[in-house]
Amino acid sequence: MDSILVRGNGPLNGQIPIAGAKNACLALMPATLLSDEPLTLTNAPRLSDIRTMTQLLQSLGAEVTSMQDGQVQAMSCHGSINTRAEYDIVRKMRASNLVLGPLLAREGHAEVSLPGGCAIGARPMDIHTDGLAKMGAEIDLRDGYLHAKAVGGKLKGAVIDFPFASVGATENILMAATLARGTTVINNAAREPEIVDLATCLRAMGAQIEGDGTSTITIQGVDRLHGATHRVVTDRIELGTYMLAPAICGGEVELLGGRIDLVGAFCEKLDAAGISVEETEKGLKVQRKNGRIRAVDVTTEPFPGFPTDLQAQMMALLCTAEGTSVLEEKIFENRFMHAPELTRMGASIEVHGGTATVKGVDKLKGAPVMATDLRASVSLILAGLAAEGETRIARVYHLDRGYEHVVRKLSGVGANIERVQGE
Ligand code: UD1
Repeated sequence: MDSILVRGNGPLNGQIPIAGAKNACLALMPATLLSDEPLTLTNAPRLSDIRTMTQLLQSLGAEVTSMQDGQVQAMSCHGSINTRAEYDIVRKMRASNLVLGPLLAREGHAEVSLPGGCAIGARPMDIHTDGLAKMGAEIDLRDGYLHAKAVGGKLKGAVIDFPFASVGATENILMAATLARGTTVINNAAREPEIVDLATCLRAMGAQIEGDGTSTITIQGVDRLHGATHRVVTDRIELGTYMLAPAICGGEVELLGGRIDLVGAFCEKLDAAGISVEETEKGLKVQRKNGRIRAVDVTTEPFPGFPTDLQAQMMALLCTAEGTSVLEEKIFENRFMHAPELTRMGASIEVHGGTATVKGVDKLKGAPVMATDLRASVSLILAGLAAEGETRIARVYHLDRGYEHVVRKLSGVGANIERVQGE
């Protein structure tokens, strides 16, 4: 298995291009199941999660062609399709559950494997299934699969009140409702930019949707959707991750394609820590102001709050801040697995339940480390860039799920980083 070798180095300078959003693309791809006509996505990120979604859609009978080195995904799903999403693919990636709503809307029934355990928490699907049940689906769990059937063969509009603003459930219900009979209202919907991106694409396909980006989304079902071409929104998590590189190492880096509205709450915390963020014509420029990073407290929340997907990376920054920072994780119950690894690099972190207390130390020290999820892995790269000596990060396949060309992007701004094969 490959590993990544990082050596602590000085300031970073230059530009990093930011890719299209993984999490938007993973929701946009299943939308192809809603139409007989082609759906083409541009600005797609080149990631193993996207290849997993491609495999899943192909197993259901969709044609998926990857062009321009993976940045264009041309999909088409005409004729009869298979409605069973197999465990062998679904277990690789929780976002596979996003085929449930579209399959049910198109065919009136679907059999989708439950994704199973996940390193960062239990992640049940009750909000998805309760919502679909309100729309007239009968759903039961047999042999590890959700067996869903629309009573009368077609879903019907409903008023759905989410107990929590789940991103995936909002996406599943949104897609299902585009072809349902009548009007669906989602109350307490997720407001993430990826939801707005999905709604924008569905509208381009002929769906009638209002209120995306707010807590109440209203969808008027239509008889059919047509084809469209859609550009995937910028990845705000990749953006935030690379904004932290000059914040940690010093220097000045411009993030091409970056937008402040995608990372507002994150920028407020960077400002409080002593990092300046400036909008430019091409994106965002990040510079570390003089002196040591200041400690800040962070609580993760649904958008527009501080994203849970940037918590691990922010912790890497705060390890060497002046003072004590308290990080509260409110979205997932087990998302501090990077803390013991950072501690091995000399950080001072205490975790109690969903709270991590980070006492800033002067310097981190390189060490062999290992990560158990995507964002944790990249936080260890960031920490390694600031550490004295060499850090080797094992289990790189986590990174490949969510960061394209991580070595190329960081070495392009002067980081000392390489991928070592087969160790
Ligand atoms: C999405 C993102 C993920 C991000 C998360 C929160 C994708 C592919 N993934 O995941 O990167 O970290 O949003 O911003 O877009 N929950 C339930 N029941 C449900 C659904 C969710 O209890 O039916 C709980 C989960 O266990 C978790 C919380 O709600 O504790 C958030 O989950 P959700 O917003 O659904 O996240 P995902 O869509 O899985």
